[in-house]
Amino acid sequence: MTASYPALRMRRGRSSGWMRSMLAENRLHPSDFIWPAFICDGQDCEQPIGALPAVSRWSVDRIGAKAKEAATLGIPCIALFPNTPEGLRTERAEEALNGGNLICQAIKAIKDAAPEIGVLTDVALDPYTAHGHDGIVDVQGNVINDETVEILVEQALVQAAAGADIVAPSDMMDGRVAAIREALEREGHQNVAIMAYAAKYASAFYGPFRDAVGSRGRLKGDKRGYQMDPANIEEALREVELDLAEGADFVMVKPGLPYLDVVARVKDAFGVPTFAYQVSGEYAMIEHAAAAGAGDRDALILETLLAFKRAGATGVLTYHALDAARLING
Ligand code: PBG
Repeated sequence: MTASYPALRMRRGRSSGWMRSMLAENRLHPSDFIWPAFICDGQDCEQPIGALPAVSRWSVDRIGAKAKEAATLGIPCIALFPNTPEGLRTERAEEALNGGNLICQAIKAIKDAAPEIGVLTDVALDPYTAHGHDGIVDVQGNVINDETVEILVEQALVQAAAGADIVAPSDMMDGRVAAIREALEREGHQNVAIMAYAAKYASAFYGPFRDAVGSRGRLKGDKRGYQMDPANIEEALREVELDLAEGADFVMVKPGLPYLDVVARVKDAFGVPTFAYQVSGEYAMIEHAAAAGAGDRDALILETLLAFKRAGATGVLTYHALDAARLING
């Protein structure tokens, strides 16, 4: 039997800063963050992204210094996404398999400049296809699963050969985790981990990202034929179970804040490293809310990130990673 009022006064535990600090159940640390960064073609280039305030694309020759900055702040891992030059986007995404593409160049630049930070690469074809889908499409515009998986396997191998530490399939094709794991083992990449976008929803929060990688305008139709229905959570548990059975080392739920219930259920059910992606639209929402005076920017950033920890997330992919790490480091 616990005491009740007035013997128990819950406010005693909130009565001073040191008391609150002592009793905090969750804390943010820079090692909670993975920083998603966009790579553009060109030299000595920083391209601001209109839809993502304060986020830029960086050319390969500048990404090393940015990675170093992130590492110095205590961020353990950087996630890379390319804005592929227009002329290299094709029906079958051949550029994804080019060992000299922007991502492979960026991996090498980061490994040279900041070998202490991990590099995570995205396995999906949307930055490379003329139609903006994550796989190759048939005449009706449907993404063809098994043929796409074969290409994704090659893409993951190209990234691993360039030095990627974690490959993260974000495409939602069936069977891709098993196929990628098998190929990585066969080709001697035993230590390359797979972070599966296991429960990735067909979300309206991806808009600014599609601008950042240049796929928004070209996307024909939508992605509901492969990404999950926002109505579903039992299905998310099946997706996670399947990806783990296929050999995923870590799983991810995406988007983040509107899907914290999914993060909590996944973590409770499986107890495996569970990451959440605070996606571009969520980032933009915070930035625009702060700019409009709806709340203090720093406080909004830290409160939302802490919510991921409370829900049980192992870590968060967030465009606020550098700013949040600076705030935490003081
Ligand atoms: C696609 C991909 C998307 C994001 C990461 N990988 C968008 C999509 O599925 O259309 C979104 C990330 C964000 O919005 O920040 N492979």
